[in-house]
Amino acid sequence: MTRLEKQKLELHRSTHNEGKVVSKIKVAVIGYGHLGKWHAQKAESFPELAELRYIVEKFPAGIVAAKKAHPNVTVVDDISKCINDIDAGFVVTPTSFHYEIVEYLLKNKKHVFCEKPVTETSAQALKLKDLLEENPVVLQVGHSERFHQAWEQKKSYAQFFESPSHITLKRVAPFKGRATDVDVVQDLMIHDLDLLVYLFGETPVSVDAIGFKMRTNLYDYVTANFRFKSGNRATITVGRNQTKEVRELEISNKAGTLVVDLMRNEIQEALGAHPGPEFVKLESYEKRDHLLLEHKNFYQSITNKTAPIISLDDGILAVRLIDHVLESVRTGKEVML
Ligand SMILES: NC(=O)c1ccc[n+]([C@@H]2O[C@H](COP(=O)([O-])OP(=O)(O)OC[C@H]3O[C@@H](n4cnc5c(N)ncnc54)[C@H](O)[C@@H]3O)[C@@H](O)[C@H]2O)c1
Repeated sequence: MTRLEKQKLELHRSTHNEGKVVSKIKVAVIGYGHLGKWHAQKAESFPELAELRYIVEKFPAGIVAAKKAHPNVTVVDDISKCINDIDAGFVVTPTSFHYEIVEYLLKNKKHVFCEKPVTETSAQALKLKDLLEENPVVLQVGHSERFHQAWEQKKSYAQFFESPSHITLKRVAPFKGRATDVDVVQDLMIHDLDLLVYLFGETPVSVDAIGFKMRTNLYDYVTANFRFKSGNRATITVGRNQTKEVRELEISNKAGTLVVDLMRNEIQEALGAHPGPEFVKLESYEKRDHLLLEHKNFYQSITNKTAPIISLDDGILAVRLIDHVLESVRTGKEVML
């Protein structure tokens, strides 16, 4: 059995609800593109908890692909065609459609998993918050980078997070032609903005950013400097027209430097006061199926009526930070938050 199969089996067992009979959550995956395909696969991974009933896809080629891969699932071209027969919807369309689809799901009292960013603007996200208060259901946002096993070891690296620290987050890749309906900030920086707040446990007080439109008519490269009340500082750099792929976090303070390679699942540590002859300690951490964990958490929140692991408030904060980064890029000025 492979490691991923073992992980799946473990998750499967832990969601069995100890013999209790629970009615299955009827699910629709909305948007069968690059990521929607994987969501549809994960939605079929917890057969005791959830049933993938529908795939909603607008494009003829996507409809054909969905029918071929999921012959037992009904494929429709509009969410209204299945809304009365589902309990929950996974919104995996391009970001510019998130608001209208999530709004529709909430108005119909359906649980929602929405891919990141939850909406294009914070004004839209705040409207969803009002709607969620009127229709209390589970709304989870897909900030999948939170599921790296490395963050569970944060306590053993606590010294690097003592202020003042400086974090550098870098997420760049050669052009792939995806997510060009939004700036690279909504597409990639959103992950790091969420991680930044999650890891430092505080929101920045200012941002100073610069960006360039390289290949599309939106920002393809943005680098932003953040200051925090505690004295911490951060730099996030994202680019979708770069020469190589890098996804990395580096944090330095008087204790030394810690690097987390989010692609290779490696942690490197260079302590200021290292006792041994080796100056850099290298450790690997477990590569996990983040999407599978997101599904597990979502179904458990619905079944157990508990708060989602990543809430709409988390999603709103990340989108608000996006707005401030873009304001700084457009004005060329430091923006106070
Ligand atoms: N969490 C992550 O790491 C991660 C990674 C990639 C993408 N995403 C997010 O997932 C979302 C989708 O990205 P993608 O790369 O899969 O995009 P994509 O363009 O490959 O796929 C989107 C699909 O949605 C379909 N669609 C559009 N409007 C629709 C509608 N009204 N109803 C039904 N289907 C509709 C399109 O035809 C397309 O097939 C984006 O919001 C993106 O930011 C998240």
